[in-house]
Amino acid sequence: MSDDSGLPDVVPLPGLPAEVTIWEVGARDGLQNEAAVVPTEVKIEFVERLAAAGLPVVEVSSFVRPDWVPQLADALEVVTGVDHAPGVRYPVLVPNERGLARAIDAGVGDIAVFASATETFAQRNLNRSLDTQMQMFRPVVEGARDSGMSVRGYVSMCFGDPWEGRVPRHQVVAVCRELIDIGCDSVSLGDTIGVATPGQVIVLIADLVANGIPLDGIGVHFHDTYGQALANTLAALQSGVTTVDSSAGGLGGCPYAESATGNLATEDLVWMLDGLGVRTGVDLRELVGTSAWLAEQLGRPSPSRVVRALA
Ligand code: HMG
Ligand code: MG
Repeated sequence: MSDDSGLPDVVPLPGLPAEVTIWEVGARDGLQNEAAVVPTEVKIEFVERLAAAGLPVVEVSSFVRPDWVPQLADALEVVTGVDHAPGVRYPVLVPNERGLARAIDAGVGDIAVFASATETFAQRNLNRSLDTQMQMFRPVVEGARDSGMSVRGYVSMCFGDPWEGRVPRHQVVAVCRELIDIGCDSVSLGDTIGVATPGQVIVLIADLVANGIPLDGIGVHFHDTYGQALANTLAALQSGVTTVDSSAGGLGGCPYAESATGNLATEDLVWMLDGLGVRTGVDLRELVGTSAWLAEQLGRPSPSRVVRALA
């Protein structure tokens, strides 16, 4: 640390973007996986505090089957209860037309569909096959765009799958390409079970770019199961990616992939980016305060190293 400010020394590295957009997923990816039901008012305060800490994109919840993800069954109440901060985007996950109708009723401005790169996870997470998932998404993406929404396309199991093992890169590229072709603005590369290493990240991004997907249409979404999330993020930034998903306090997982643990912690990401002189707009102290507060609400310490060091 440079002093007792609780901030890292700043030493920039060449070849990194000047600015990174952090896509905060704690209120969705984090809370979808909590065993305890988090009260609606706590979720609303969490989202509002994340925006107040300077996060430009705060994913709020999911309009999925409430019996599939009971933790987010109060999506409508959370989405409509949040006091919007100017300039902040509040996307929600939507898998199908029923979800889109709920999102439109709630006045949502941005959505994300979520695809799988593997057959097994498509079946388990979406009740669809690898081939039929796009049939479910196509009318969602068209309808959302007609309503003026932006649409992100998540792709899960990009680097490894707990049932199928190694995932062929061409399969990931094909799903990303399909999402862009049906009208998604961008894709987010999910390492759902956190097994990727930096070389894999670099070659996948290069393959996507070679297949016509621009770098500004690629985000990265690392879970930290094997402790690789920050290294993978740095590799993605060195490849020219400028959108990084992370979860305040390192919460996260996927209820339909038991081996998925927490996402890259937003605080750990901001500490690294602050030290590299990469702008994020996030106030680290305020964010740490928010995650420490949420950890108290959840009754367990935050898995984020930076939260534990600074709180
Ligand atoms: P399905 O059973 O095939 O749906 O589920 P269906 O169309 O056959 O409908 C069956 C019933 O569910 C109907 O009710 C529908 O109305 C209702 P009925 O008419 O029989 O009374 N229904 C809904 N109700 C509310 N909202 C809806 C909805 N859809 C149907 N949207 C479905 C298909 C996709 C809906 C289901 O599989 C589902 O909800 N899956 C969500 C799983 C999920 O949320 N997983 C976690 C998010 S993904 C993730 O975490 C990974 C990510 O972080 C990236 C990474 O890390 O890799 C993004
Ligand atoms: Mg995830």
